[in-house]
Amino acid sequence: MRVIIVPDYDALTEEAARIIKKEIEIKPDLVLGLATGTTPLGVYRKLIQFHQEESLDFSKVRTFNLDEYVGLSPKHPMSYNYFMWNNFFRYINIREENVYIPRGDIKDLQAHCRWYEQKIKQVGGIDLQLLGIGRDGHIGFNEPGSSFGSRTRIKTLTPETIEDNSRFFKNKEEVPKYAITMGIRTIYEAKHCLLLASGKTKARAIRECIEGPVSAFVPASFLQFHPQVTVILDEQAASELQRKDYYKHSEKFQRQLEEDLK
Ligand code: PGA
Repeated sequence: MRVIIVPDYDALTEEAARIIKKEIEIKPDLVLGLATGTTPLGVYRKLIQFHQEESLDFSKVRTFNLDEYVGLSPKHPMSYNYFMWNNFFRYINIREENVYIPRGDIKDLQAHCRWYEQKIKQVGGIDLQLLGIGRDGHIGFNEPGSSFGSRTRIKTLTPETIEDNSRFFKNKEEVPKYAITMGIRTIYEAKHCLLLASGKTKARAIRECIEGPVSAFVPASFLQFHPQVTVILDEQAASELQRKDYYKHSEKFQRQLEEDLK
């Protein structure tokens, strides 16, 4: 795991957006796994800026979102489909047919989950997967207890997640109880995972994810097995890491090495 600690949220979004930009420049038809929530919002803003000011081209990029609420149609203002179009896709030159987001309003959700997995395979797998982390250590909506072998499926949300996400709804009762989410195995098969966390409320989950034992109790900890993970944290999210100074030291030398090898 490459752990990059930056002073604040702005620096985090800049760092993450630059990594994504670089990968799109290397591979214009990149398969990009995307996330919703507050954390990636700044990254989307930065990518929109790169598109508008530096002509970053999304015309061949394919995207797959991690998850969607069960029961909400794509037009519902709280759906993740709506979130993605409203906060990102409408401002860039992505083609609608290259955007994949699970549908939460389909009758046969099981068949839809299998179709989603199939689609990811068909395009050759996800190249870069953007991830946030929940206070309970979830990635996507893989709540504690999710198996390492899990694929796209329906998950019941934990009371903690419902509480956290109720800030977007009128009240807690309106938050859907289920979501359709890529599984841990689906995420694990992405070639590169980019995990972002900002703020004190994520500090414990980050400590458990990076330095704790690998356990289904903290689904993000499965990323410890992955060969290419970049974690970008602001100081607050990194505040409980035991080896924080080492990560900073190591990143400094890693950058120096990359400069020398140019
Ligand atoms: P957040 O959500 O970015 O809104 O904190 C992250 C998550 O729950 O995965």
